[in-house]
Amino acid sequence: MCGIVAYIGPREAYPILIKGLQRLEYRGYDSAGIALLNGELNLFKTKGKVVELVDYLKDKDLKGNIGIAHTRWATHGEPNQTNAHPHFSQSGKLAIIHNGIIENYGALKKELTKRGYTFTSDTDTEVLVNLIEDICQNEKVSLEEAVRMSLNQVIGAYAIVILSQENPDMLIAARKGSPLVIGIGKDDYFIASDATPIIEYTKNVVYLEDEEVAIIKRGEELQIRNIKNRKKTPYIQELEWNLNELEKGGYDHFMLKEIYEQPRSIKDSMRGRLNARKGIVSLGGVSEYEEKLLKARRIIMIACGTSWHASLVGEYLFEDIARIPVEVEYASEFRYRNPIIDENDIIIAISQSGETADTLAAIKMAKSKGATILGICNVVGSSIPRLTDAGSYTHAGPEIGVASTKAFTAQVTILTLMALRLAQLKGTLPKSRFMQLLHELEHLPAKVEQVLDDKGITEQIAKEFKNTTNFLYLGRGYNFPVALEGALKLKEISYIHAEGYPAAEMKHGPIALIDENMPVVFIAPSKGIYEKVVSNIQEVKARNGKIIAIVTKGDTTVKKMADYIIEIPETEEMLVPILATIPLQKLAYYIAIMRGCNVDQPRNLAKSVTVE
Ligand code: G6P
Repeated sequence: MCGIVAYIGPREAYPILIKGLQRLEYRGYDSAGIALLNGELNLFKTKGKVVELVDYLKDKDLKGNIGIAHTRWATHGEPNQTNAHPHFSQSGKLAIIHNGIIENYGALKKELTKRGYTFTSDTDTEVLVNLIEDICQNEKVSLEEAVRMSLNQVIGAYAIVILSQENPDMLIAARKGSPLVIGIGKDDYFIASDATPIIEYTKNVVYLEDEEVAIIKRGEELQIRNIKNRKKTPYIQELEWNLNELEKGGYDHFMLKEIYEQPRSIKDSMRGRLNARKGIVSLGGVSEYEEKLLKARRIIMIACGTSWHASLVGEYLFEDIARIPVEVEYASEFRYRNPIIDENDIIIAISQSGETADTLAAIKMAKSKGATILGICNVVGSSIPRLTDAGSYTHAGPEIGVASTKAFTAQVTILTLMALRLAQLKGTLPKSRFMQLLHELEHLPAKVEQVLDDKGITEQIAKEFKNTTNFLYLGRGYNFPVALEGALKLKEISYIHAEGYPAAEMKHGPIALIDENMPVVFIAPSKGIYEKVVSNIQEVKARNGKIIAIVTKGDTTVKKMADYIIEIPETEEMLVPILATIPLQKLAYYIAIMRGCNVDQPRNLAKSVTVE
């Protein structure tokens, strides 16, 4: 949600800010704006993407070596120029950028209106900047103090940066619930929602904690206080990601690059954690919790979106091979439904970004009830890993395309490793079977490579179905979550209505939709309950539905019935989801491209959902 960038130092701020916005655009892209201070505060904003802002700024004076910039995903107020950030205070002397939602903005606005403030936008952000200004003027305190005092009155989430005409050598940043990172350069500071705009300037960063306020002064050391005015020592960390991971590297889109990165990203997820020859699976990050895992009454996996689908695969894996009861919950439902949790429960929170607001809130709730919390996250240093007791990073590298691809297969890889390790500890698998599975897992990246090289079949299928209005995805067992993920990919980026279902449930409803215009994607590998899926295929065929089937190489039965088949190499049943998801990612990608959709920035979506 919303991308924040700010700069203070000796360089011209504009090029740094605009490049930063472009890197953060995956977080939100309905409007963008920039404020630069060069004697006076200059504010520029436009509706639409960052490229429209760049166009608008072509002939403007963009001088200044301090500034703030924002790309928005609308919450309060429609996406237009007026509601775009930055927002000025009434005097025009303060400018603010904000990510998050101020929940009590209505009450604060009423109070400020009584005191003579008027508002030009519909945003909660404009209320906050005026609250700060009001406190500054009435309480006669410094800007730092006014920010701190105002944040004590605020209910909700925020990541903010404030630029003040009267304090040309200072930026103030604060966070609660929404992420904020400060990059420390040689003689400058870079502030952003995540590290992607910072990486090319410095690898030294400080992640602000909730309710911390950073006072960032030109040429001085970074100061951090919490909103209760307690001094905090900045903890400087080194970033692991490289700049070239943030570029498209010759691909037309980040999504396609990320799909093709999967042989590498899956290998990276297993690196140092799997030695098939020696029969070793070890996840260093959670090894201290193995005893607890062994004694756990059950495991609850919490996540949102694609990560929730990975959790569903995890449920099948853990129950199948490690024989531990698992429940999978949408974080947004779990947090509000008074669940029964205690210290015997282990929660595994799964999140690519590590910032999803609902997942964070669900973790906090479970923690307060005494449960142990483990995390599986991709973004190092993000909020979820800092909140959990322990966890494993997926090491998939930065995922920029809004539709998650390589993060999903990396999450399933980690869950597979965890399930195998537990199975080993619990002795739920015979040694020979365990060794067989490790061996197969080690060979998986090479099989992913083969799946990617599909001789143009997914493109051909995309061409055939690009104008359809509905799609059904069906799978059973381990491949039911794959059906859900395939349908999600398609709807996210092509805007075609798609539903994923367990294949056997089809006859309880979706079968009514089937006619000669309905494409049905079956995930029908030869392992698992193959014959049952074949029967479901026949049911669709009998009603003239169009059948696209993902089958194991060499399959002849389904081939006779399907209109199109996509072959994947033979593998263990529990590893099929990783292979079978990849053609579905490609299918969604090509259909979206053929429909002229923006696959990296689909409408209304954002990569990191830091609001409820
Ligand atoms: C958003 C993204 C999805 C993602 C979901 C959960 O909706 O667009 O791709 O799956 O959030 O995000 P997380 O970062 O927690 O995995």
